[in-house]
Amino acid sequence: MSMQENLEKIQREALEQIRASEHVEGLNDVRVAFLGKKGALTQVLKGMKDVAPEDRPKVGQLVNDARAAIEQAMEERRNAFLSAMKEEKMKSETIDVTLPAKKPAQGHRHPNTIALEEVERIFVGMGYEVVEGPEVEYDLYNFEKLNIPEGHPAKDEQDTFYINKNIVLRTQTSSVQARVMEQGKLPIRIISPGRVFRSDEVDATHSPSFHQIEGLLIDKNITFADLKGTLAEFAKQLFGEETKVKFRPHHFPFTEPSAEMDVSCFKCGGKGCRFCKGSGWIEILGCGMVHPHVLEMCGIDPEEYNGFAFGVGLERIALLKYEIDDMRLLYENDIRFLKQF
Ligand code: DAH
Repeated sequence: MSMQENLEKIQREALEQIRASEHVEGLNDVRVAFLGKKGALTQVLKGMKDVAPEDRPKVGQLVNDARAAIEQAMEERRNAFLSAMKEEKMKSETIDVTLPAKKPAQGHRHPNTIALEEVERIFVGMGYEVVEGPEVEYDLYNFEKLNIPEGHPAKDEQDTFYINKNIVLRTQTSSVQARVMEQGKLPIRIISPGRVFRSDEVDATHSPSFHQIEGLLIDKNITFADLKGTLAEFAKQLFGEETKVKFRPHHFPFTEPSAEMDVSCFKCGGKGCRFCKGSGWIEILGCGMVHPHVLEMCGIDPEEYNGFAFGVGLERIALLKYEIDDMRLLYENDIRFLKQF
C-alpha cells in the first residue's frame, strides 16, 4: 500500500469513528487513536525518514491535510454534541408560564378582628371616632362615675377581678365613657372597642376575658329616636338591609331609660328557627339615654347636653355572623378553625 493510500485509509477510518462516536468523551478516544503520541497519523510521520527526500514535501502536505480534515470533523462533531446538550438542558429547564402559580401560605384574620373591623367601618362611616381606654382601670371609672356606687348590686353581678381596693380589671368598656366625657370636649361621638374581664368560668358562652364595643354620643337635643335610628342603621349594615330591630325595656345604672335591642333573626327572617331558639329575634346589645347623674359626675351639664350610649359584645357578633356555636373556639387558636376565615 502506498503512503498516499495508507493516509487515505487512516483518514477514512478516523472520519468513520468520529461519525460513529456518541458523546464528547468518545471523540477524545478518536483523538488519542489517530492524533495522539502513538496515534495512527503520528506513526506515519515517524515513517517519513523512509520516504525519498524529494517526495517528503508532498507526503508532508498529505499528512497535514489528513490531520486538518480529521480535526475539522472532530470539531464539527463536538459542536453538534454541545448544542444538542444545550438544547436538552434548555428543554428540561423550560418553565411553563401558563401553569397556575403555587398559592403562598397566608395568615387569616381572626373572626373577632373581622367583626370588629366591620363594626368600626359602620360607625366611622356615621362620623364616630374610635378611642381606647386602659384595661387596668380605677373603680372610679369602671363603677363610681357610671352610677354604680359602693354596695350597688351591679358591682356583684359583674364578678370583678380586683387589683386592690381602688383598681380593677375593667368589667365593661363603659369605663371609657366616663373618661371621654371628663375630658370635656363636646360634642362626643365615639366607639371604644376593647378587652374586658369577669371572673366567670369558661363554657360555650362565657370566658373570663372577652371584648366589648362601647358607643357614646353626647350633643344637644338628642332623643331616644336618635338612638333607635342609629342602632337600626347599624343592624342593617351589619346583618343585612331587611333586618328589623326591637327595643325591650331594661335596666342599666348609667342609662335612663335603658333598653336591650334585638334584631330579627337573619337566618329565618323572623319566622323562628334553631338559631333564634324559635323566637325570631336575637338579642344583640344594651343601650339607653345617658343618665343625667352620670353626665353631672363627668362634668357635663345635663340641662344643656344629653346623649345615648350602647354596649355590644364583640364575640357575640362574631359568633352570630359566622354561625359559631362555641365561644371557646375563638380563644383556642386552632389553626384548622382559624383557617376558615
Ligand atoms: N356595660 C354593659 C354591660 O357590660 C353594656 C351596656 C349597656 C353599655 C347599656 C352601655 C349601655 O353603654 O348604654 O353589660
